[in-house]
Amino acid sequence: MTSFPPFRVLFSHEQILRRTQELARAITNATPGEPPMLVAVIEGARPFARLLQKFLPGGLPLHEVRASSYAGTQSTGQVTITIGKDLPVRGRHVLLLEDIVDTGRTIKALRQHFTVQGAKSVAVASLLSKPDRRVVEVPIEYLGFQIPDEFVIGCGMDLDGRFRELPDVVVYDPAVERAFVAGAAAN
Ligand code: IMP
Repeated sequence: MTSFPPFRVLFSHEQILRRTQELARAITNATPGEPPMLVAVIEGARPFARLLQKFLPGGLPLHEVRASSYAGTQSTGQVTITIGKDLPVRGRHVLLLEDIVDTGRTIKALRQHFTVQGAKSVAVASLLSKPDRRVVEVPIEYLGFQIPDEFVIGCGMDLDGRFRELPDVVVYDPAVERAFVAGAAAN
């Protein structure tokens, strides 16, 4: 069993489940008759997207797009779409599923891309949003939780590929990690 440093929990997995279920209800009520095309922004949004998919009726398939703008804890400002550029979105109501909206650049680029590709509409469901960090304005139609400007990990979110599998959303603190590693080495 993997154990993790005792980072501060922002949202427990239980809270995430409950909120995702509420979002699924809102999405279902807002899209009667014409189910959306679910497009998860991988890797980070995969766990949230799978939960949402489970709570939405109709067994909707989950598509994936990869767009990256991040290296370490700093946003680079460059957004590159490497997977899912050519998804068949023409005439569909696309629902982009994101783990966290930070500067807003990724979601803005994806919204524009799929609009240009002929989607009937593009909406966004994001587990988290950090409004204090916004550089470009983007609407988030379905938002799980708003958080302050802190670097979070868990529930799909990572720091250079680590901590994605943590079930809760926690605040990354290098001092907590250092103390944990030192403690483990002393035992
Ligand atoms: P944006 O384009 O600046 O909005 O960046 C969005 C992406 O940055 C997310 O999909 C995450 O992959 C990553 N990101 C932003 N903030 C965090 C964070 O606090 N923890 C982990 N990843 C983050």
